[in-house]
Amino acid sequence: MAGDGISDESGRARLPARGRSWEELRAALEELRAGDVDWRSGRAAVYVFHAGEDVLRVAREAYALYQSENALGPAAFPSLRRMEQEVIEMGLGLLHAPEGAAGDITSGGTESIFLAVKACREQAAARGAAVAGAEIVVPRSAHPAFDKAASVLGLRVVRVPVAPDLRADVEAMAAAISERTLMLVGSAPCFPYGVVDPIGELSELALERGLWLHVDACVGGYFAPFARMNGVPVPPFDFELPGVASISADLHKYGYAAKGASTLFHRTEQQRAHQVFHFEDWPAGSMTTPTAAGTRPGGAVAAAWAVMNYLGVEGYREKAARVIRAREAIEAGLADLGFRVHGRPLLGLLAYGDGPADAFAVWSRLHRRGWFTGLVTEPRGIHLMLSPVHESVVDRYLADLREAVAEVQRGEGPTAETRARYA
Ligand SMILES: Cc1ncc(COP(=O)(O)O)c(C=O)c1O
Repeated sequence: MAGDGISDESGRARLPARGRSWEELRAALEELRAGDVDWRSGRAAVYVFHAGEDVLRVAREAYALYQSENALGPAAFPSLRRMEQEVIEMGLGLLHAPEGAAGDITSGGTESIFLAVKACREQAAARGAAVAGAEIVVPRSAHPAFDKAASVLGLRVVRVPVAPDLRADVEAMAAAISERTLMLVGSAPCFPYGVVDPIGELSELALERGLWLHVDACVGGYFAPFARMNGVPVPPFDFELPGVASISADLHKYGYAAKGASTLFHRTEQQRAHQVFHFEDWPAGSMTTPTAAGTRPGGAVAAAWAVMNYLGVEGYREKAARVIRAREAIEAGLADLGFRVHGRPLLGLLAYGDGPADAFAVWSRLHRRGWFTGLVTEPRGIHLMLSPVHESVVDRYLADLREAVAEVQRGEGPTAETRARYA
């Protein structure tokens, strides 16, 4: 067993008295992960984005080269400062940012969203607005990272039911705005259904009401631009819309970078200034950090920089085309089986249900066949977040789905109730 010899009588792991060899530890790690989902073969459609062994290698080797370097100290590591700047500039270009726009690499979507909310709150406070208990109006499908940010920052999230097409209901959001509202949110796309909210209308609403519009493009930021280049009719969602103040876009999702990398972009450097933390009232000198973290992994910055330069526009377009082909093939198979896709997803996420057997019952049977995917509850459905690797497993997935449906119809298989759990 992998952990042999490192637990005490109570079962608590303890530091081994003497170190173990790397060979032994490597074998232990391989053994430990034998029980994990087989994402390399496309068995996971959540948590992991797999664009091929070559992309993984670039990210891994770049990460390893910079694993000890610390982006907290750009003066010591001008290389990291330069790579971060280039990553930000590439992102700003993809998202039609105007002159003067700015951004930072963060540890993930949650941190990017936290910082956008923080900057918005500080900006409001700086102009004298009351910010305690101030509100963020979001569609019900928005990611819980907004609630996490609000809980830390003393704000309140107002979740507004989505429209029948599962996109943000802009009229209902307008009606939810009060004198306490600071921020509006739209997703491109939202996680539960993969649909892109009507960001154009939200942009107009934000301008009309003088509110900060944050676009959560954590999933779509490094996917939608390439899908659009391939002719997918994704409506405008980025800085080309004048009301969009900030955008979160995750490098460790469809940017295919190593985990621990997202980007947060602001329309202006003045906005970004409210995100930056400055402190000097202690004995070790002034500290100015743009993100929530102190130490920032140089490896994550280097891996993002390397993968972006490895793939280029051509590579990302090719990956986007594969993901969309996989989604369309799955959608066609679902229609044959009598399932309905929720809303109209345009990118790599979809949820489906309302078919010949209950989605949760089908999911548990697919799970037993080695498929690790999500569930949604409103309405009930199976959730898939597709990567390029999935193009090669569509037929297998659909065959297993057909069998899973038949099993439910025959009353066979697991009886325990399945519950939706995102994390
Ligand atoms: C739309 C959306 N926003 C934000 C996040 C949060 O990103 P992270 O898990 O990197 O913190 C996710 C994660 O899947 C997401 O789908």
